[in-house]
Amino acid sequence: MSRRPVFLFNSDAARAAVFRDAFARDLPDLAFADDMDAVEPDDVRYLITWKVPERLHRFRRLEVVFSIGAGVDQFDTSGLPAHVAVVRMVEDGIVRMMQEYVALAVLALHRDWPAYAGQQRRELWQARPPRRAEGRRVGFLGLGVLAQAAMERLAPFGFPLVGWSRSPRSIDGVMCFYGGDQLAAFLARTDVLVCLLPLTDETRGILNTELFAALPPGASLVHVGRGPQLDADALLASLDADHLSAAVLDVTDPEPLPHGHPLWRHPKVVVTPHVASVTQPETAARAVIDNIRRHVSGQPMNGLVDRTRGY
Ligand code: NAP
Ligand code: GLV
Repeated sequence: MSRRPVFLFNSDAARAAVFRDAFARDLPDLAFADDMDAVEPDDVRYLITWKVPERLHRFRRLEVVFSIGAGVDQFDTSGLPAHVAVVRMVEDGIVRMMQEYVALAVLALHRDWPAYAGQQRRELWQARPPRRAEGRRVGFLGLGVLAQAAMERLAPFGFPLVGWSRSPRSIDGVMCFYGGDQLAAFLARTDVLVCLLPLTDETRGILNTELFAALPPGASLVHVGRGPQLDADALLASLDADHLSAAVLDVTDPEPLPHGHPLWRHPKVVVTPHVASVTQPETAARAVIDNIRRHVSGQPMNGLVDRTRGY
């Protein structure tokens, strides 16, 4: 009797329980396993994981590796045969959390929240000059799934929206720029810069002295991409020179941010511990099941990664 193909789950037990139930209900022809060492390697067709495990070559009939998160920069795919598809997490839960976080951070910066928090510590009752949302341009580095979802939440406030991507994009209500040649024009039109780029060789270190200098004076930063995209010393210098006014950082390099790092206590910086958005097991299980059905029926999977491009 032939054995059922296996979906191998390599993450925490709480999420595994949710996935196991969803798979038993919706994909009964697949066996669910969450112990790498107990599984028969030739049965494994699908793997979901945060990092590509060692000895992956054991799974000779593997077809798809799913990332448990939206990013795939943590994947070392160099040893992965070319025919194995790599898929990042695109699911409602992660999208909604990112919408919440970006809206919260942009509104906090728009309404001078970090400055008022500092004033409170000094018991200073002093209004700062208000600015209308229509005069505060919010610019997104990256115009992918998460950036576009965050823009949808911000649009009703009236912020003019600007965006920059690798290839040309056309998005209703958004002034779009693309490529290295148009980066400076995009930055010149951005008062709150939101970084939602994937980490690749091209985006590593992109938030640097030159980029900050190209932003208008008083601009601020929301960084929700990946830590290594930011040159922290350049940010600190730009804040201390009063060129940038504030920054909200959800990602740092390294993580956790080391004890005593100047970003922790900087009065113009808000740090959160990489919590902007996390995969929600219920909605993620649905998204992965949908993708497996797509794969089996020959349709393109959502979030399929172009391995040469790195995202
Ligand atoms: P996505 O849909 O793949 O979109 C990526 C966007 O970045 C695309 O618009 C792409 O341009 C653009 N891009 C990539 N490389 C570029 C380059 N060299 N120059 C200009 N633009 C470039 O990704 P997503 O789902 O929105 O996620 C984005 C990132 O968010 C993830 O990779 C992850 O690092 C981060 N993230 C963070 C958290 C958190 O909690 N902090 C949670 C989830 C995700 P094209 O449109 O031209 O392809
Ligand atoms: C979190 O950062 C993710 O990539 O899902």
